[in-house]
Amino acid sequence: MSETAENVLLSSLSSISNTFNNNGPSFNFHSNISTEELLTVRTPPMQKFLRENVTKYHTEGGYVLDAGCGSGKDSALLISNGFQNLVSCDLSDGMVSLAKRNKAAFLEQEKTDYSKWEIFEASLVTLKEQIVSKPELPQQYDNILCIGNTLPFILDKKDAFESMKSFAGLLRSGGALIIDHRNFHPMINKGKVNKNGFNPCTLEKFNNLNDIIPHVIKSPGEERKPLVAFLEFQRGDGIKMYFSYRIYTPETMTEIAKQTFGPDVKVEVFFDLKPPSESPEEDACWVTYVITKP
Ligand SMILES: C[S@@+](CC[C@H](N)C(=O)[O-])C[C@H]1O[C@@H](n2cnc3c(N)ncnc32)[C@H](O)[C@@H]1O
Repeated sequence: MSETAENVLLSSLSSISNTFNNNGPSFNFHSNISTEELLTVRTPPMQKFLRENVTKYHTEGGYVLDAGCGSGKDSALLISNGFQNLVSCDLSDGMVSLAKRNKAAFLEQEKTDYSKWEIFEASLVTLKEQIVSKPELPQQYDNILCIGNTLPFILDKKDAFESMKSFAGLLRSGGALIIDHRNFHPMINKGKVNKNGFNPCTLEKFNNLNDIIPHVIKSPGEERKPLVAFLEFQRGDGIKMYFSYRIYTPETMTEIAKQTFGPDVKVEVFFDLKPPSESPEEDACWVTYVITKP
């Protein structure tokens, strides 16, 4: 497919999602829950994975960046686990307001020190420049989280590349990017989503979705390269939502990591938070990477 045709297709898919999802219901399931509940949205295996992988790369006084933070639940979780130096950002002003509201609610409780938590609006695509333009923010990070299937929201190939370049520029040498996405393998190969919703094991306790129907769009010609998954979400309340995601596989993620972090980058892959030897790719719901900067 020519680059122009691909861009036209991708922007059409974005506008379909924008038009059809503009019917009031929010995709955010964490807007009306208490701070205590917010800290338990992630299941225990996911909490453990985050804690262990942040601890492994953490240095004294070092910072964690939560890129595409949404409600800020993972930032709050890490702060409650003793990582006070959290910086969080999201493109959506609504999500930034929600994360700030959550910070204010945590501050009121005075159990843990949430005062150092910085939250601001920014796009992943230009994140490095935006942080450089705010000298009051830390310029180097031990860890960057880009989780909850956030990178695939960026459909444009160049924008995805720029986002990964931003992460590479903001991590200290030896620091790690934790990034994840839905497992597109069963969508590509079987036309279905494993486990019909949010993975109860690795992602979140909540299961507000009845079903997810994937439509995979592939490039024409012999290669038939999977480009985009257009997902039809059937919510428990009957409302349908539509989202388009750029497709990643362990191979394409490793390729983009090499291009942006350099050929010596270390990419660890996990299927449902387990190494590939313990969890086959085709059965997994979620794919997570720990990408270490050389
Ligand atoms: C599925 S949510 C995940 C949020 C959070 N990381 C979590 O796991 O709960 C994806 C988030 O990415 C944000 N997002 C999408 N495109 C973005 C971009 N280009 N730059 C920054 N944030 C973006 C959305 O606003 C949304 O909050």
